[in-house]
Amino acid sequence: MAVKFLNPLADASQFPTPSVTATPKFRLRDLDLAQHAKGDVRETIFTRNGRGAIGIAGTALRKENRKNVILIPAYHCPALVEPFIWLDYEIRFYPVKADLTVDTSLLKKAICAGDVTHCVVVRYFGFGQNNDEVIQFLHSQPVEIIEDCAHSLFRFVDHFADSGKQVPDVSASICSINKILPTIDGGALYLKNKYEAKLTHVGWLEEAKACAFIVGIPQFVGRLKARFKKSKNETAGVCAELSEEDSHLRYFQPIDLVSASYRNTKSIFCHSNLKLIRKKRRRNFEYIVNNINNPKVGAPLFNCLKDEDIPYVIPFLLTDECYFYQIRKKGIQILRWEEVAVSDCSISQDYRSRLIQIPCHQQLSSSQLNFIVDTFNQLRP
Ligand SMILES: Cc1ncc(COP(=O)(O)O)c(C=O)c1O
Repeated sequence: MAVKFLNPLADASQFPTPSVTATPKFRLRDLDLAQHAKGDVRETIFTRNGRGAIGIAGTALRKENRKNVILIPAYHCPALVEPFIWLDYEIRFYPVKADLTVDTSLLKKAICAGDVTHCVVVRYFGFGQNNDEVIQFLHSQPVEIIEDCAHSLFRFVDHFADSGKQVPDVSASICSINKILPTIDGGALYLKNKYEAKLTHVGWLEEAKACAFIVGIPQFVGRLKARFKKSKNETAGVCAELSEEDSHLRYFQPIDLVSASYRNTKSIFCHSNLKLIRKKRRRNFEYIVNNINNPKVGAPLFNCLKDEDIPYVIPFLLTDECYFYQIRKKGIQILRWEEVAVSDCSISQDYRSRLIQIPCHQQLSSSQLNFIVDTFNQLRP
């Protein structure tokens, strides 16, 4: 059956420019130029974005001369699903439980259909949940396992790092770099079996423009111009140049399959102090979760962190979606997955309006952390 994505519920233009952003901004001082994670990333394919990495995995793992049937969790964003639509996979959604874990008995039932060839397992928001158990079960099935670590860069890195951590055996693992690190673009792909992905880098002029953008030069010039009443949105200009032609899909572009990330994305990845970022994200999560106390508004989906959990954001379930608008109007860039595909999973259909993602990234200052906590605690019905 054709996949039908729901329409967005809100638009960023309805809200003020956020003072607390969802992701970190580039700051030279955050880089650790003395360290270089070269060995750790030798086998990584750096793609333009996570959806590109998913698409390349889907291409590499596609079965010839038979129908490709993929199981994808019903709670998702379209960017995860669209590459498989483009590659002509038959997509079936499997339900998630209220805590976003996988009901293994229902997954088993879905696989019992007998024609499933692939299965995606998602490490939502940087949390391990029961994914290892699910992957363990999938090992006993004749399916290709695609691990989506879009939110779990740290787990992704463990596929290569000599950390001594046990990493489950999967056919492919992907991550989305600019969700965690301050880069313009970036996906990364690990494939168990060798595959020659032919990716093209942008030219050096484009690379230079991207570097200028990341340190804020066009934005600064734009502000200057605006001052002299020649208002022109440079940011939009650069982004328009960076974007590609439209297709019938909302997020995935076929060119993502053949595009390497910016070279500067790889440099930022290799010179980021991941150890420190892990620590700060965990600390920010704990501070916010331990200090928000307004049950009328909602509650975090998870109250504590296991050793392996490095949060991308804090999933928080609102009692009423009206709070989403109140929080965005205060300038906190909370996100939610509004465009999930229609499915039988009532949790996913409900969470599109009520499950929000609170920032907890490494750059949040104490005053921003307190602002988030106070905003939530002061919300009234
Ligand atoms: C779970 C998940 N998978 C994949 C993607 C795609 O990542 P990217 O935005 O880098 O293409 C996203 C991001 O939207 C995501 O949240």
